[in-house]
Amino acid sequence: MTVIESGPFAPLSRSAIRHAMSDSSYQQLDDLAIYESVASTNDQLWQRLEKGINTPAVCLSEHQTVGRGRRGDQWQSPPAGNLYLSLFWPFPANTLQNGLSIAIGIGLINTLKAHGISDLQLKWPNDILVNRHKLAGILVESRFGNQHNTVIGVGLNFKLPTATRDKIQQPTTSLQQLCTKVPCRNELAGHLIQNMIETLTLFQARGLQDFVPLWSQYDALHNATIQLISDDVTQTVKAQGIDENGALRYEHQNQLHTLSNSHVSIRFAS
Ligand code: BTN
Repeated sequence: MTVIESGPFAPLSRSAIRHAMSDSSYQQLDDLAIYESVASTNDQLWQRLEKGINTPAVCLSEHQTVGRGRRGDQWQSPPAGNLYLSLFWPFPANTLQNGLSIAIGIGLINTLKAHGISDLQLKWPNDILVNRHKLAGILVESRFGNQHNTVIGVGLNFKLPTATRDKIQQPTTSLQQLCTKVPCRNELAGHLIQNMIETLTLFQARGLQDFVPLWSQYDALHNATIQLISDDVTQTVKAQGIDENGALRYEHQNQLHTLSNSHVSIRFAS
């Protein structure tokens, strides 16, 4: 008999995660590995590629010693029952990857909504916010060779100890703060992985076209005055949604521009 680990903060369990996934999604994975502690779950999957293994795989860890965020930031990753999850996906070499992080963000929101979490918004390109507080972050990394190897890392706050929150330079939130009944971590991980596989499959076949129309309902920056910060330059502009490639549209001095560089930092101006 299989005993399924349940409860919001039960240890990560391969069988419980597999149990939450459909057979067809699970069968697309060559590996689903769980660790107590790694440097970074993204790096774990890149190391697997360096050994010559280039099949779809998932890696989760209870703790990361060097969790990585976007723009070279650190992702605080204490062993507090959060989710640190990465998925390796080998796209064929001719796949256009514009806007992949948009598609993944929308998929993540849909999965969280199905678990009863409300008021979720996406801050371009893919921060998951609730009332302008960050609940989850997504890091998409790619290496191009004879296929477009991609690792998508998701950090989702279940529980943020005060000491961790104090180290983070922006307003944050966690499922423990938002939910009267915190979802089961293993079940949510299984649903997230399944959704990521379905999103990647759809994106690979049809690009971003099915996701762009969904953006406006979750757009945290909709018509907001924002600051674009890059090196020493700060521009105050008005956000105007996204274009068909997933680039941020914004108005500056009565002209419409687009931004596809996710290394620029974006802040609400008010
Ligand atoms: C961001 O800056 O918002 C992206 C954060 C991504 C963090 C996740 S945690 C799992 C995976 N492993 C990492 O080192 N980073 C990503």
